[in-house]
Amino acid sequence: MAYMNSRQKGPIGIFDSGYGGLTILDEIRKTLPMHDYIYLGDNARAPYGTRSFDIVYRFTLEAVQYLFEQGCPLIILACNTASAKALRTIQQHDLPAIDPTRRVLGVIRPTVEQLGTHTRSGHIGVFGTPGTIQSESYDMEIAKLYPGFRTVGHACPMWVPLIENGESSNDGADYFVKQESNRILAKDPQIDTIILGCTHYPLLYNKIRKYIPAHISLLKQGEIVASSLADYLRRHPAMEARISHNATTTYLTTENASKFSTMASLFLNHEIEATTVEL
Ligand code: DGL
Repeated sequence: MAYMNSRQKGPIGIFDSGYGGLTILDEIRKTLPMHDYIYLGDNARAPYGTRSFDIVYRFTLEAVQYLFEQGCPLIILACNTASAKALRTIQQHDLPAIDPTRRVLGVIRPTVEQLGTHTRSGHIGVFGTPGTIQSESYDMEIAKLYPGFRTVGHACPMWVPLIENGESSNDGADYFVKQESNRILAKDPQIDTIILGCTHYPLLYNKIRKYIPAHISLLKQGEIVASSLADYLRRHPAMEARISHNATTTYLTTENASKFSTMASLFLNHEIEATTVEL
């Protein structure tokens, strides 16, 4: 497949299964406001959280190839499920064949890197989709960086549907947030840091904070991923030079564009206009 000349400048690609990656994009844009971005949500095939490894890998690879065709030299998988199930294979197997000068980065590693500055007990909780938790990607990444830590993953299958149906601020959401909060703490009462390991979960932050005791740190990924990306670009000036800087963002979705635009305003607090694309 012929991709745009690698010396041509292009936007940073931000990929998510749907809307959740907008919480990451928002923070990245605050940190790097002059860069150009293409946000791609695979809303037609979301959620990814309950899908098998092979399917998440295939869908994510299609999205990565699409964003490369749009000229992105660098792509962030702003989705924990895609980062958990597809990133490693794409980095090790596909990227060398497609274009070894481009990069695909995820959200799990930068989040885990932050743990050392938050935890005292070394007991870490992770809230995530069933797919992310079953993959044990957080457990493995934490074991690699902090061999003495204990990780407890906990799947919250109801949280993404609640958010996507506009229920995150309503009383009904309290029931499910309280239930999962109690369950993770029952698994390990020594937990002092919990990763919100799904890009949707910042929308439930206030409710989660209500049911998780104040001494426990809750890590939102947006700011973490944004500062990790800024650091990456500082350390890789050749990649930074390949990113275009016109302060633009293009929103693409595989679903209906006006539906995406309406829902996106829930995540971004401002209006956007999206375009429908086929992967
Ligand atoms: N964005 C996904 C994640 O961060 C959650 C949504 C989905 O299940 O597709 O894991």
